[in-house]
Amino acid sequence: MNNKNLLVVGASSEIGSAIVRQAEQNNYQVIGTQRSGSMPGLFMDVTSDESVKSAIQQALADFGRIDAVIYAPALSSDGLIHALDDNAWSNAFDVNLFGAVRVARHLIPHFIKARQGVFQFVSSTAAVRGATGAAPYACSKAALNALAVNIAHDYGRFNIRAYTVMPGYVDGGMLADLPVEKKTLLAREPSLKRLATPDNVAHFCIATLDSPYLTGTALTLDGGLSG
Ligand SMILES: NC(=O)c1ccc[n+]([C@@H]2O[C@H](COP(=O)([O-])OP(=O)(O)OC[C@H]3O[C@@H](n4cnc5c(N)ncnc54)[C@H](OP(=O)(O)O)[C@@H]3O)[C@@H](O)[C@H]2O)c1
Repeated sequence: MNNKNLLVVGASSEIGSAIVRQAEQNNYQVIGTQRSGSMPGLFMDVTSDESVKSAIQQALADFGRIDAVIYAPALSSDGLIHALDDNAWSNAFDVNLFGAVRVARHLIPHFIKARQGVFQFVSSTAAVRGATGAAPYACSKAALNALAVNIAHDYGRFNIRAYTVMPGYVDGGMLADLPVEKKTLLAREPSLKRLATPDNVAHFCIATLDSPYLTGTALTLDGGLSG
């Protein structure tokens, strides 16, 4: 055992469940949260502060200590900006940014007391490249990157680290239902000429988690999209 306790929020997402598997293979003790999945774990609706608070209290009661959290839930409101109303924007920000803020709010006191803790937020290259027809998603992921930098600034003196991981195109999860022709077109864009698998992302998320000087940054995993 590496004796590290990891909370995975959004463990029922395709990438989240790959992260749980990868973490367990690396001897983390994992507790996952989900809103509607059927995996073992805790219920957490990240749009409810009460739900976030009680899941974190339960995780602390079960584990005694949380060393790190990976935040994976996301919602995309699709449509062009002139056709999207305020609700489309608030829904995306509620899950992608404010949910992460709620998790941070309830974990930071615990991390301060422990004089250590890691926040890893799963962002997206959409944060820096935009996402065609999904501006609320892209903007909320950019704000998530900024949240990580702010947590790093404000709490680094307590040995609390925060960063984001920005995957490019992943064959699964939110893109699972894309038509094959569209996936083939997307796969031409990265230098590696293929989409990432959820396991590729999970491997990177867990491999970076324990890096003691890593904070306040956004790490790209895009197969060479930006190059
Ligand atoms: N797939 C990609 O190409 C790609 C690329 C870059 C980044 N990412 C990021 O990777 C992460 C995982 O995405 P995925 O592709 O694996 O997507 P996914 O399988 O579609 O999962 C999305 C997850 O968000 C959860 N969620 C939505 N609203 C929630 C709420 N109110 N409370 C709690 N959970 C909520 C969903 O839970 P329920 O099922 O219970 O609703 C679901 O588990 C996301 O942050 C996404 O932005 C994905």
